[in-house]
Amino acid sequence: MKIAVFVSGRGSNLQAILNYAEEKKNIEVSAVYGDKSNCPAFDVAARYSIPTFSLGNKEGCISYKDLSGELSKLKIELIVLAGFLKLIPDEVVLTFDKRIINIHPALLPSFGGKGMFGINVHRAVFESSAKVSGVTVHFVDTTYDTGKIIAQRCVDISDVKSPEEIAERVLKVEHQLLPFVVCKFADGKVKIIDNRVVILE
Ligand code: GRF
Repeated sequence: MKIAVFVSGRGSNLQAILNYAEEKKNIEVSAVYGDKSNCPAFDVAARYSIPTFSLGNKEGCISYKDLSGELSKLKIELIVLAGFLKLIPDEVVLTFDKRIINIHPALLPSFGGKGMFGINVHRAVFESSAKVSGVTVHFVDTTYDTGKIIAQRCVDISDVKSPEEIAERVLKVEHQLLPFVVCKFADGKVKIIDNRVVILE
């Protein structure tokens, strides 16, 4: 299955997907898209000779209005948002309905929405005094973090001393859950049954 990964920063989830792809061979990362002209995740892609594309209106960028066409040209079957901070345009969401997924570093529907990214999420979780956090992989719709939930994993944070400590624990689980879900997509094991998302064995 050909996938496109969308990034904005470090690229550790991209790396986790690439590690999995090497092992499982049922996915191919065909392209990496970013909302900046460069970011560390582009260096990860370059090490695997994966083409990278910047999105926006600057010269040399792919404009958001051309994005659907570009993804279709590459025969992309699944779009994975791995730390991508911008909202995906409605038109792309409609074209790739139930074929765009996002990873969120907390247990949705709590601690999501606009501005809830990176350390902001973990700070809110820490300040709430929650004893568990976790990871959510969900479908992308036209607003932040509201699409149907595909998979979640809990992380015990009852003894943490800082938001950074939560981030560290949660990230380890992200690196397992996102490739797992991508792989299940490639195997045709992600289904919607009675309006709920189910992952088959
Ligand atoms: C991850 O925590 C992801 O859940 C969040 O942004 C972070 C991206 O990290 N949405 P990386 O770029 O994959 O290292």
